[in-house]
Amino acid sequence: MSKNLLITGGAGFIGSHVVRLFVNKYSSYNIFNLDSLTYAGNLENLKDVEDKENYHFIKADINDEKVIDGLFQEYQFDSVIHLAAESHVDRSIKDPLAFVKTNIIGTLNLLNAFKKLWNNNFEGKRFYHVSTDEVYGTLGKSGLFTETTSYSPNSPYSASKASSDHFVRAYGETYKLPYVITNCSNNYGQNQFPEKLIPLFINNIINNKPLPVYGDGNYTRDWLYVVDHARAIDLVFHEGENEETYNIGGFNEWKNIDLVKLLCRQMDEKLGRERGSSEKLITYVKDRPGHDLRYAIDANKINKELGWEPSVTFEQGLSITIDWYLNNQEWLNHVTSGEYQLYYKKQYQ
Ligand code: NAD
Ligand code: TYD
Repeated sequence: MSKNLLITGGAGFIGSHVVRLFVNKYSSYNIFNLDSLTYAGNLENLKDVEDKENYHFIKADINDEKVIDGLFQEYQFDSVIHLAAESHVDRSIKDPLAFVKTNIIGTLNLLNAFKKLWNNNFEGKRFYHVSTDEVYGTLGKSGLFTETTSYSPNSPYSASKASSDHFVRAYGETYKLPYVITNCSNNYGQNQFPEKLIPLFINNIINNKPLPVYGDGNYTRDWLYVVDHARAIDLVFHEGENEETYNIGGFNEWKNIDLVKLLCRQMDEKLGRERGSSEKLITYVKDRPGHDLRYAIDANKINKELGWEPSVTFEQGLSITIDWYLNNQEWLNHVTSGEYQLYYKKQYQ
């Protein structure tokens, strides 16, 4: 479908898996990874594809309207997969405005540049907006988020993502801009920045540091292996219907405390430590304000309409993820020391 495909946020966690999949699978596409390289952007994630002919990196900020407009005119992007975002709830509580800028204004800049470039000749074009299940707010003890669940975001992060979803949909209604939106559950896997639960705790266990569990640990999240999310994005990008939303999740709910105990058991085995030693690191700390009790996705639509399902169980995915972090301690050291931010300079300047 697409010849000049723009992927935003491709140096981040999920984006780097999407870029890798597309670069390796679609040699006839020109794939442009646009990323401003915030603290969360790490080009070391893409070392294995950076020399491929169909891969191009553009360092740019989606908040810069003029630059974004110019890039669309120059490269004539016929499709966009938009992942660039501020993505961490705890950071959004400290600095909501940064989330408004990138997640809302940045998305609008992309929509406007896309709309202006194709000027109503949208045949064969597509704007794919990657969103989160957090826009639906919180569930009680039962029920699942479906595509028709009403939005009720509770954190500055989820409010900014909800707003961007609404704008994408509004551009579809108002300007007939062809869009598709997916709302995915919590991802885990290799290359995730160690501020999110799973990589933070893996790193802390390696270094015998406390594992800070918020509140009583009885919060529930629905976890999906990042490679399965990338596979779903590929499928929806090529076979999803315009003006549709698809929820993505693996029917894989875990209470935080149960997940942390499973992680501890797997880490003890892999590190050859005495059973129970990592669990001793668990420390209950002050709760996150506005902490959503439970997220859980009903993924029946994408399964029935497009035939997508996860390729690994949680135990398998978690084991692959831990092995990756243990075998890539250099990546982890570069991230924790800040050295990864020098990679762009060394490689591209
Ligand atoms: P991430 O924080 O790891 O990566 C975000 C990337 O966007 C980074 O490379 C960063 O440099 C880039 N970026 C940030 N601001 C930018 C700007 N102004 N201009 C250009 N680039 C910018 O995030 P992630 O976890 O990979 O999430 C990617 C997308 O998927 C986000 O839109 C997020 O809302 C969504 N999502 C994430 C999850 C999850 O569990 N991580 C789940 C569902 C949906
Ligand atoms: P996180 O990985 O930040 O994802 P999200 O907030 O987007 O769901 O957190 C996952 C869950 O783990 C969430 O309920 C908050 C909790 N958590 C902790 O208990 N301790 C931590 O140090 C972190 C980062 C998260």
